[in-house]
Amino acid sequence: MTVSKDDAIAHIPPSASFAQAAALSEGGHYALSNIRAAKVSSGQEVMIYGATGAIGSAAVQIAKHFGAKVTAVANTKNIELIGSLGADKVIDYQTQDFTKTEKRFDFIFNAVGKSSFGACKPLLKTKGIYISTELGKNGVNIWRSITTPFFGGKRLMFPLPQTKKEDLVLLGELFEKGAFKPVIDLSYKLDQIVEAYHYVESGHKTGNVVLQIVSE
Ligand SMILES: NC(=O)c1ccc[n+]([C@@H]2O[C@H](COP(=O)([O-])OP(=O)(O)OC[C@H]3O[C@@H](n4cnc5c(N)ncnc54)[C@H](OP(=O)(O)O)[C@@H]3O)[C@@H](O)[C@H]2O)c1
Repeated sequence: MTVSKDDAIAHIPPSASFAQAAALSEGGHYALSNIRAAKVSSGQEVMIYGATGAIGSAAVQIAKHFGAKVTAVANTKNIELIGSLGADKVIDYQTQDFTKTEKRFDFIFNAVGKSSFGACKPLLKTKGIYISTELGKNGVNIWRSITTPFFGGKRLMFPLPQTKKEDLVLLGELFEKGAFKPVIDLSYKLDQIVEAYHYVESGHKTGNVVLQIVSE
């Protein structure tokens, strides 16, 4: 494979393993792309729903890097993990209804696609932004991303993720600084690829699943 030097390639951070480097650029690039689209800035209140996925666990850390106050919604078994990633508040979706929180948010990032704009809208501030990683029922998120800006209030965005060299470089720098640690759940060898897919398709992995092409 040939790639232009100006394309989205960067050196693996010196202290990263191949597995960490792969995980770093996977969920990290989707998270960063959406956080940039929402123009997250210092002091903003941000909710990450589905904070234990590859994208969600990266989003918690990257939103913190941009200075946001992060409320993460996650499963009981991962409350401690998400706290260790820097979330200011964690809501356990198995014991609490996250829509009942008193807090209001500048940005809600639905990183698992399981809730909806309708459910999250009351939690948004007047000019709050909602982004989901999924299209929504019948592709509703595409239509709402076109219509909600006309009303001038709470807005649904559906940005197309772009893979940029500068983003990979930033993710590498954050890794080296210890500001972004990609969460790795399990690693599989190449001949276990079927098992790996089954696990990923369960929708319950924590962070990233890595396929080891060569032994490190
Ligand atoms: N990774 C990618 O390359 C990629 C690219 C484009 C789009 N997407 C989409 O982005 C979404 C996230 O993908 P991902 O790879 O980061 O993670 P994922 O494998 O879809 O995992 C999602 C995480 O959300 C948690 N979760 C499940 N049900 C939940 C609920 N009701 N409330 C809160 N959390 C819940 C799961 O943990 P527990 O069930 O244990 O709580 C899991 O850790 C998916 O919808 C995927 O289709 C992914």
